[in-house]
Amino acid sequence: MKVIVTGNFEQTCETAANLISGVIANKPDARLGLATGSSAGGVYPYLIKANKEKKIDFSKVSTINLDEYAGLPPDHTQSYRYFMDTNLFDHVNIDKSNTFVASGIGDPEKIIGEFRAQLKKAPIDIQLLGIGVDGHIGFNEPGNVLYCDAHAEELTNSTIEANSRFFNNRDEVPIKAYTMGMGDIMRAKRLVLVATGAQKAEAVRGLIIGDEVTTRNPSTFIKLHPDAVVIIDKELADLVGYKN
Ligand code: GLP
Repeated sequence: MKVIVTGNFEQTCETAANLISGVIANKPDARLGLATGSSAGGVYPYLIKANKEKKIDFSKVSTINLDEYAGLPPDHTQSYRYFMDTNLFDHVNIDKSNTFVASGIGDPEKIIGEFRAQLKKAPIDIQLLGIGVDGHIGFNEPGNVLYCDAHAEELTNSTIEANSRFFNNRDEVPIKAYTMGMGDIMRAKRLVLVATGAQKAEAVRGLIIGDEVTTRNPSTFIKLHPDAVVIIDKELADLVGYKN
């Protein structure tokens, strides 16, 4: 696992976007694993810019997202489908039929079946990740066990609390989500995790300091991946006590 320390969050996002752009440049029909949230969301303006400047072409690219809230329809402003459309897909030359975000509504078994079928379609060339305050990746929450394949997950109080900033109040935050499993994430050819902010310090410390791999901090499994890059800013690196 490689750790890159940048000067600030903007540089973190630009670095991650450059890695993704490099994959698309080498493989025009690349399959991207995408993420939502304010950290991963910071990467998309750089991809949009590169597309507008004709440095990368999305016409043959396909994408699959890490997760979606259970219960939110695609046009809900806090659904991850809505996030992806408004933060990336509507601004680049991607064919939206080549983008997949699990449905938040409908029969759970069917949703999970469709999610798993989409994951089987083609390997993910590069997977973008954020990290939850509790160390979750996608919505794989800490606990006694983690799950390999796409599944429904009950959100922890920490996650509901952290994500309530995007809703009118805590009661509006969905308590369940559909997420890629840990195996799906680990099967991606390359992982790029971006993190910023003091609230992530404990989770990131578990990830980049020491050798422990634990279901109590799902992000630590990234240590087992053969090609993973973690990008953080100096402020977070200092908080965590990370030295190059
Ligand atoms: C949500 C997403 C995660 C993301 C996390 C961090 O919980 N399901 O995939 O990593 O948010 O979000 P933020 O970057 O906004 O802190």
